[in-house]
Amino acid sequence: MTFENIKVARENAIIIVTINRPKALNALNRRTISELSQVMTEVASDESIRCVVLTGVGEKAFVAGADINELAEQTPVSGSLHAQRGQALLDRIERLGKPVIAAINGYALGGGCELAMACTIRLAADSAKLGQPEINLGIIPGYAGSQRLPRLVGKGRALELLLTGAHIDAEEAYRIGLVNRVIPDAELMTEALALAAVLATKAPTAVRAIIAAVNDGLEMPLAQAAVHEASLFGLVVSTEDMREGTRAFLEKRKPVFKGA
Ligand code: CAA
Repeated sequence: MTFENIKVARENAIIIVTINRPKALNALNRRTISELSQVMTEVASDESIRCVVLTGVGEKAFVAGADINELAEQTPVSGSLHAQRGQALLDRIERLGKPVIAAINGYALGGGCELAMACTIRLAADSAKLGQPEINLGIIPGYAGSQRLPRLVGKGRALELLLTGAHIDAEEAYRIGLVNRVIPDAELMTEALALAAVLATKAPTAVRAIIAAVNDGLEMPLAQAAVHEASLFGLVVSTEDMREGTRAFLEKRKPVFKGA
């Protein structure tokens, strides 16, 4: 596939998707959302791909938000459709069934922070800045940031970030649980790829089940979520990979999972 606003590279079982609109600090315009959606559909259906690393081109920005040129033109109807398209992409990423690592290499603001929050794991470069500055444009987040942010950092911290529009640095983002780790700028991609390589060796059905159990379970009462977990557990114990994992442990060797 050829794309205008994203670059896609492959390293063994890992796909590296780089948002590539440096002149707009990788802001998400309609075309970029559509290209990301296409690539995620491909990734979902290709069993040889086990993990995705998502980042922004250059050293300044992961994604500086939704494209404000497009936002400025919107009507109530087109605004709602715009939000739905962005939300659909982020839902697809969150529920891809394969880990998506956000390598946050600079500004992750507005839709950029929302995109990172939909990823499975967030690694932030030292120089990253995160925030939901929509309030300063007289709007609110449109890609479900008002929902994912409190789920990650708690209601009080989320409301403060949403209402002030403040940018926070990587260390503060780590302190409040918005990112998993802070990494020196120069090492961000090496670390992201190293983590992706580890995740790519795990049993794919179990990976898919963990992502589903966590995402679905957070929306359910505990008792119902535990039933859901038990049925996913029933599924994974029926796999070849389960037999391989348990046999490898007993034979004191590393398992080789095949996704069967
Ligand atoms: N959309 C469109 N263009 C953008 C953009 C965006 N979100 N963010 C930056 N750009 C463009 C700038 O307009 C500028 O273009 P020109 O060179 O043609 O003037 C270029 O990128 C470089 O940006 P700056 O000159 O502003 O760079 P800076 O270093 O001075 O500031 C910044 C960097 C703090 C990130 C600043 O660009 C900024 O505040 N950007 C907007 C951030 C924002 O408000 N994001 C939320 C958008 S709304 C949203 O995302 C809603 C939603 O949930 C769906």
